Amino acid sequence: MATRKTITIRRPDDWHLHLRDGDMLAAVAPCTAADFARAIVMPNLVPPVVRGADAARYRERILAALPPDTAFTPLMTLYLAQTTDPDDVAAAAASGLISAVKLYPAGATTNSESGVRDIADVTAVLERMADIGLPLLVHGEVTDPDVDIFDREAVFIDRVLDPLRQRLPALRIVLEHVTTQDAVDFVRNSDAGLAATITPHHLIINRNHLFAGGIRPHYYCLPIAKRERHRVALRDAATSGDPRFFLGTDSAPHLDALKETACGCAGVFNVTNALSCVAQVFDDDDALDRLEAFVSLNGPAFYGVPVNEASITLVRHDTPVAFAPSLATNDGPLTVFDPGMALFWHAAPQTAQRPA
Ligand code: DOR
Ligand code: ZN
Repeated sequence: MATRKTITIRRPDDWHLHLRDGDMLAAVAPCTAADFARAIVMPNLVPPVVRGADAARYRERILAALPPDTAFTPLMTLYLAQTTDPDDVAAAAASGLISAVKLYPAGATTNSESGVRDIADVTAVLERMADIGLPLLVHGEVTDPDVDIFDREAVFIDRVLDPLRQRLPALRIVLEHVTTQDAVDFVRNSDAGLAATITPHHLIINRNHLFAGGIRPHYYCLPIAKRERHRVALRDAATSGDPRFFLGTDSAPHLDALKETACGCAGVFNVTNALSCVAQVFDDDDALDRLEAFVSLNGPAFYGVPVNEASITLVRHDTPVAFAPSLATNDGPLTVFDPGMALFWHAAPQTAQRPA
């Protein structure tokens, strides 16, 4: 039961975000900048952001999509391809242009076709990253069609992640958007250098929500939501204060027309209510005193960057906050994540923080 009406924390960051490009970028980037100071930007564009020069151009497009003087810093990543050049990665890291490299197993998810087919093929890149301390961000699912979709994360840990950690213990790794108790346990039982992001939606839905009364395309994302005991494990990890777990929204916008179709795209668009969802989860679990760690402190500590100087005040309203159910883009509407529960928390508008 909530006993406080406001909570002021350091301005949060989003450690896993899809901003896309073009009109979609223009529609969603301001939503992220409204609540987050920085975001780790995923590189799975078409074509993907493989080389440093690609990331530099993408960064310019992101900044151009925001109103001038917006206080938002995109943290760029490169897409690990079979062809990735270790020298190019090292140069992009040394210049401060990139914060990490993303591993997509080829075929695992949206725009992953140019990803890695066999992790042994990219050993030289991974060794260089270990040398220079550049984190590897991992989409942790095997692509073997014989492995049940609900088991792909756990099998990835056994077949790929655990052997990689043993072979290259110096490589810093973030296991992205974890969805299972197995992943939580693996991170908790690991030595330093392994962390995990958790999404708002995986804290709230389990796999039943995908089929509640009919098929629910807006809850379909990858890794797919798992059974209830896994959701409970994720909540426990997120609200524990353990510095190895931090927020990555994995907001992954796809136009409604591409989700509400016979073969809909994977991805949940959640940025406009992400902080409200997470605050509600922490409130419901009596963990508001650990909210700041999850959304604002643990991520910077892992990435070795300063926490944000600015702060944000979240207000608990007496009645549920109304959120727009969709966002308009030039190409059509984009449905916002529906948590299926009342949200009472909302970031106070900036103007409300000015002295009267
Ligand atoms: O659901 C997802 N959507 N999972 C991913 O890994 C990629 C993302 C996207 O880019 O749409
Ligand atoms: Zn993602």
